[in-house]
Amino acid sequence: MKELTLVGWFVPSLPQILSLQVAIMVPLLFLLFFGYILSIPGCPQKCFCIRSLTDCQHANLDEVPPDFDQKTETLILNENCLRLIPRGAFQNFQNLTFLGLAHNKLLLQNDSFEDISNSILSLDLSGNSFTDLPSKLFKNTKKLVWLNLADNRLDLLDINIFSTLEKLTYLDLSNNRLQKLTSMFVGLSQLDTLMLASNYLHTIPQGVFDSTPKLKILDLSHNKISHLPKCLFNSTMNLNDLLLDDNNFTVIPRAVFTVFHNLEHFSISKNRIQNVLPFVFVSKLRKLDLSNNLLSVLPCDFLSGLKQLEVLNLSLNCFGNFPSNLFINNTKLAFLHLDKTCLSTLPIVSRLRNMSELTLCCNAIKNLPRKFTDNMVNLKLLDLSNNNITKIEDGALKMNPNLTKVVLTGNPVFTTERINYTFKGSD
Ligand SMILES: *[C@@H]1O[C@H](CO)[C@@H](O)[C@H](O)[C@H]1NC(C)=O
Ligand SMILES: *[C@@H]1O[C@H](CO)[C@@H](O)[C@H](O)[C@H]1NC(C)=O
Ligand SMILES: *[C@@H]1O[C@H](CO)[C@@H](O)[C@H](O)[C@H]1NC(C)=O
Ligand SMILES: *[C@@H]1O[C@H](CO)[C@@H](O)[C@H](O)[C@H]1NC(C)=O
Ligand SMILES: *[C@@H]1O[C@H](CO)[C@@H](O)[C@H](O)[C@H]1NC(C)=O
Ligand SMILES: *[C@@H]1O[C@H](CO)[C@@H](O)[C@H](O)[C@H]1NC(C)=O
Ligand SMILES: *[C@@H]1O[C@H](CO)[C@@H](O)[C@H](O)[C@H]1NC(C)=O
Ligand SMILES: *[C@@H]1O[C@H](CO)[C@@H](O)[C@H](O)[C@H]1NC(C)=O
Ligand SMILES: *[C@@H]1O[C@H](CO)[C@@H](O)[C@H](O)[C@H]1NC(C)=O
Ligand SMILES: *[C@@H]1O[C@H](CO)[C@@H](O)[C@H](O)[C@H]1NC(C)=O
Repeated sequence: MKELTLVGWFVPSLPQILSLQVAIMVPLLFLLFFGYILSIPGCPQKCFCIRSLTDCQHANLDEVPPDFDQKTETLILNENCLRLIPRGAFQNFQNLTFLGLAHNKLLLQNDSFEDISNSILSLDLSGNSFTDLPSKLFKNTKKLVWLNLADNRLDLLDINIFSTLEKLTYLDLSNNRLQKLTSMFVGLSQLDTLMLASNYLHTIPQGVFDSTPKLKILDLSHNKISHLPKCLFNSTMNLNDLLLDDNNFTVIPRAVFTVFHNLEHFSISKNRIQNVLPFVFVSKLRKLDLSNNLLSVLPCDFLSGLKQLEVLNLSLNCFGNFPSNLFINNTKLAFLHLDKTCLSTLPIVSRLRNMSELTLCCNAIKNLPRKFTDNMVNLKLLDLSNNNITKIEDGALKMNPNLTKVVLTGNPVFTTERINYTFKGSD
């Protein structure tokens, strides 16, 4: 993967050269450059080769070039017009470990990767418009660690398609057309990241993650899921990041609470959640996103167990007001987003010394009291735009040496000059 950065370094260098606008230099450099490449044995035309990397990205290829260096370990063929990968296409490359075939028009067959099945570790097949995959495609690629199948049209996968990939840690199936999950993850005992965002999933069957005990990151966002089976995460106790944004949940599913004490990032924005239970037990949660739901009240002890919480987004719910001690135990909170939450008074946050960005845009706040930002020594951004503030008490913003930006546009106090109030506290 790291080699990709070399590509980024190389490609922009052309426009940089051009921008010198040295008319004579340009064609000369061009000639020198391609002449150099053409002269390297084992580096196909239009490709860029350096050590064990062969980069043929965006080179208009319609077949795998036969003539590249057998030492190649990383071969990037992304953004070409490749269609078939017949057996034999990679027969001389026993050391190929990273193969990028993203954004082609591939039609794979069972033995497409047979030649490199003993060496391949990482395979990028994203963006190819597959609707399915040959059932034996990965039968012998047992060393595979990283597999990207995102941005295709996969709708139904053979139950055993991944069953031999016992070393796989990363599997990306985002942005496909999967309607249901079968026991297709059986055998993936090392899997730690599973991306299933942007599919057509309505339900998730019980037990589907039972054979992936090492799962750390699970992304199920942008589907149509409304329930999760109660014991879904019984075997995935190491889950760190769970993303359920943009689904059809009306409550936080109970299954989440079996792993909640280990979660660091939980996100369930853009659903239809109306009520939440207190997260009463101790948790490692650092990032919580409940924005864009139908919440109107929060229990007063709702956040009290979340002592590690650093980022909280409650925007786009309609609370009116918060219980006064809501944030009292969240001393690590650094980013708090309360935009469009129907607040008419400011929440009590002044003890949160680590607060760095506080956004309260688009509410109905009238008054900025003098003590509001007391003790928030790390506050850098305070966004109070589009409220109904007519009064800023003297000294309200004087306590914050690090405060660099206060946004007060769209308040009656500034009806004539709609400017951003930029405050440098150390003046
Ligand atoms: C493949 O890698 C091995 C071990 O690094 C090396 O000995 C061998 O020469 C390489 N094969 C080719 C064709 O470069
Ligand atoms: C792959 O192999 C399976 C079982 O051997 C066979 O049913 C299927 O037709 C093959 N697929 C392709 C695309 O050749
Ligand atoms: C899952 O865990 C819960 C509580 O830890 C337990 O009550 C339940 O029996 C377990 N279910 C399964 C299917 O393992
Ligand atoms: C969302 O869930 C409700 C039931 O809670 C159901 O009636 C509705 O069809 C679901 N919407 C989608 C898009 O699946
Ligand atoms: C907070 O949530 C809102 C609504 O989902 C979203 O638009 C916004 O980008 C989020 N803010 C941050 C800083 O993540
Ligand atoms: C804050 O945490 C302490 C335990 O450390 C607990 O006793 C207290 O009730 C919590 N306060 C609130 C308002 O949740
Ligand atoms: C504030 O953040 C720093 C660095 O992340 C951390 O060491 C410190 O404990 C935090 N303060 C509080 C009160 O949690
Ligand atoms: C301002 O911010 C810096 C860096 O975040 C921090 O080290 C410093 O303590 C802050 N200033 C005060 C007065 O706390
Ligand atoms: C702003 O406050 C004034 C009086 O305090 C009130 O009449 C008006 O309705 C408020 N506007 C909004 C948008 O809340
Ligand atoms: C004020 O700041 C906001 C947020 O940073 C920005 O979107 C807006 O364009 C700024 N307005 C002016 C007049 O500078």
